Amino acid sequence: MPSYAVTGSSRGLGLGFVQALAADPSNTVFALVRSISSAPKLQEFVAGHAHKNVHILQADNVDVASIKTAAKEVGRITGGTLDVLIANGALMHHERNKLMLDEFPDESVLDDDMLTFYKTNVLGTIHMINAFIPLLRAGSTKKCIIIGSAIGSHKLARRTEFTDNPGYAMSKAALNIAAVRYASKYRSEGVIFLTITPGFVRTLQGTPEEVEKFFSEAEAKIREKFPSYEGSITVEQSVRDQLALISSVTIDRSGDFVNRDGKNVEG
Ligand SMILES: NC(=O)c1ccc[n+]([C@@H]2O[C@H](COP(=O)([O-])OP(=O)(O)OC[C@H]3O[C@@H](n4cnc5c(N)ncnc54)[C@H](OP(=O)(O)O)[C@@H]3O)[C@@H](O)[C@H]2O)c1
Repeated sequence: MPSYAVTGSSRGLGLGFVQALAADPSNTVFALVRSISSAPKLQEFVAGHAHKNVHILQADNVDVASIKTAAKEVGRITGGTLDVLIANGALMHHERNKLMLDEFPDESVLDDDMLTFYKTNVLGTIHMINAFIPLLRAGSTKKCIIIGSAIGSHKLARRTEFTDNPGYAMSKAALNIAAVRYASKYRSEGVIFLTITPGFVRTLQGTPEEVEKFFSEAEAKIREKFPSYEGSITVEQSVRDQLALISSVTIDRSGDFVNRDGKNVEG
């Protein structure tokens, strides 16, 4: 009975992971959400799902107590183990995303925004890992997957010269280092830490017109630098590729920062 915990599973990629994993009745899936009442799509899926193998648990990246409670509940249900943690939940879209670091209205807004990204995406993920690591160590496959982003790559930042989304980008870059530290500490025990970039996935909420405008403009901007860029992809495609990679990854790749096809992001 392989067990999986997916953070940030109310919508987007997290929900996609839960749906794909739940399709196999032999899996036990823990769908962690920031707030249960704000996860109607997940609740609807679970209520109508035939296999009854999904447990919804509340775990907010910025509320350590909720994370510890969720990990305890997972351990209670599995008997103290977890096979795979997918640390997916993150703050991505923000009203001031377009601002570069020297364009904020004042220093305190800059501080608040940067700290919000750091607390949610970096410390939040670290608290998740810390709470679940005892269960992963006792699990059979011992995999901790961190959903990263190409925007957190130093090499790609140099090549694209994009200046927007700095708080999000810096949070993802910091997380890359955290993942390497965990990989170094737990390599001898066989616990795999892998940071995966999911592709440019169509998870944005909004009207079809707004979504189309966002993706067509962003794709055009990326293609100015990378003419053969694949463009945006669906949640299903991203999840399918990532799950294939997760199931095949071995300890020699622990600490790597990879695209969903397994190739190293930084070459
Ligand atoms: N989509 C892309 O193109 C793309 C590209 C690169 C990397 N990624 C990464 O892929 C992951 C998923 O992205 P997505 O596109 O699915 O994003 P999304 O649609 O915006 O969903 C984000 C998820 O994270 C949850 N979340 C936000 N704040 C949280 C918190 N404090 N505690 C727990 N969960 C929280 C959200 O919960 P609520 O619904 O409760 O807000 C939601 O379930 C993220 O790590 C993102 O950085 C995405």
